[in-house]
Amino acid sequence: MNLDEIIETRRAFRSLKYVDITEKIIDHLAHAAQLMPSCFNNQPWRFVFVKDNPFLEQLKNEALSQGNAWAKHASMIIVIFSKKNLDCIIKDRIYYQFDVGMAAAAIILKATDLNLVAHPIAGFSPNKVKKIVNIPEKYDIIALIIVGKRKLEFNDVLSKGQIESEKIRPKRIPLEKFRFINLALDEITKK
Ligand SMILES: Cc1cc2nc3c(=O)[nH]c(=O)nc-3n(C[C@H](O)[C@H](O)[C@H](O)COP(=O)(O)O)c2cc1C
Repeated sequence: MNLDEIIETRRAFRSLKYVDITEKIIDHLAHAAQLMPSCFNNQPWRFVFVKDNPFLEQLKNEALSQGNAWAKHASMIIVIFSKKNLDCIIKDRIYYQFDVGMAAAAIILKATDLNLVAHPIAGFSPNKVKKIVNIPEKYDIIALIIVGKRKLEFNDVLSKGQIESEKIRPKRIPLEKFRFINLALDEITKK
């Protein structure tokens, strides 16, 4: 796929089926993250690629929020973690989450290119995640990425809204609301 196709194809699908995740796939994903830019080239991103039991089962059974029950069909869960002092802090501007977010985007797009679904989630218990995969207290769990193969039949735990999102991409705000050229316009930015 070219980049336009990858961007158009990427979706946060919730109906997943099993796919074998090899170390080669993990290396492709990690390499995509590795080449992303970061402040002073600090590379504050850290990932645990959880693909085997008991760790994967424990994450599914103990760490997910109720609304993320669909993620029990994940073939891999990527735990994204970092901490503030791994990256630039310039007065009140704190950069680690920005840089880790870019690395996560690279992983999500590369996974799409490999015909996988890579769905980021914030609905989980960070403390449980830390305990299960052995991440020290001082780190922040920024997000999880649920990885699997897209299944065309809908996952039976999905809510009505979640089923709608499987069918059509959730609505985006129009370009005019966030794309400014030369000047940010008062009548839009004040709303
Ligand atoms: C930081 C972040 C947190 C998210 N948390 C959840 C979540 O907990 N559960 C979920 O089902 N989807 C979650 N999503 C997915 C979004 O709902 C989804 O990306 C959005 O609705 C747009 O749909 P699309 O990605 O298919 O275009 C999250 C996405 C991001 C970036």
